[in-house]
Amino acid sequence: MKEQIAQIKENAINEITEAKTLQELNDVRVKYLGKKGELTAVLRGMGALSAEERPIIGSLVNEVRDSLESEIQKNESDLKEKALNEKLEKERIDISLPSTKMKRGSKHPINRVIEEIEDIFVSMGYDVVDGPELETDEYCFERLNLPKGHPARDMQDSFYVDPEHLLRTQTSAVQARVMMANEEKTPIRVICPGKTYRRDDDATHSHQFGQVEGLVIDENVSLADLKGTLEIFVRKMLGENSKLRFRPSYFPFTEPSYEVDVSCFKCNGKGCNLCKQTGWIEILGSGMVHPNVLEMNGYDPKKYTGFAFGTGLDRLAMFKYGITDIRYFYTNDVRFLNQFDRKDV
Ligand code: PHE
Repeated sequence: MKEQIAQIKENAINEITEAKTLQELNDVRVKYLGKKGELTAVLRGMGALSAEERPIIGSLVNEVRDSLESEIQKNESDLKEKALNEKLEKERIDISLPSTKMKRGSKHPINRVIEEIEDIFVSMGYDVVDGPELETDEYCFERLNLPKGHPARDMQDSFYVDPEHLLRTQTSAVQARVMMANEEKTPIRVICPGKTYRRDDDATHSHQFGQVEGLVIDENVSLADLKGTLEIFVRKMLGENSKLRFRPSYFPFTEPSYEVDVSCFKCNGKGCNLCKQTGWIEILGSGMVHPNVLEMNGYDPKKYTGFAFGTGLDRLAMFKYGITDIRYFYTNDVRFLNQFDRKDV
């Protein structure tokens, strides 16, 4: 009997060490230690043994079972580790491979310019305000000293929706809105960037374009304040060496009125194709708020004065980025837009 047990042990240990997979190992376990296993059969047959032999054989079988179990456990953890290592090796990720590149959008040049302008004016204490693009004739013209039939209305070809409503031709409409909305009639310092519409369409004019309006109203605001403000704005926007030229002009809502030219930053004022050989480029309209406009919108022109200006966003962006056709801004060609995917702005 002892020999039979020793034989079983030897066979079992051999098979355990030879098992290559967890499944094989389990089969060995069942074969020897399972309910119908060989070692279990020995225990079952112990009834036939004498009373002296029984405890001896019993403890021998237990000993063998314990050692087989610990042998199985040892091999099991080896096999598990091996399986894990194989899995890790198989699923290994090569992190040095180049990844699939994600396409990122870029900020539109007009939005870049708007953000830059907002930063400049917010740093000088201005609020940024908004106004409707579908405007009333009253706010777009009448409250700006342009009554119906006024000849200066011809300066801006308009899209009327009905006799009283139009797509705003100028952000100046917001001047009247801000003044009217301020019930206490306290000082004002705002800019308003936004879309405007006129019936134009060629390389330098689009039927839709962007403007930024500026309005300051307070006691003792003078032309010097307007000049100083615009100088700071233009130099920050287009370069510290920019020179400004104020040309007398006419707008119904400002008096006196000026158009402001900036020295051409391509040729530095020498004359080139960008500035049509003049050395100057017109960038904005401005002036002191007309007393009629103050009065019409509830401000006392004896107490208050103010200045206003309006500049074309598209033109600023064209000059800043050297773009020759305004229509590029609105056709959304990715070959154009991709060029503004700069990380430094
Ligand atoms: N709104 C004028 C234009 O579109 C510009 C302007 C604004 C002029 C404010 C004077 C003051 O041409």
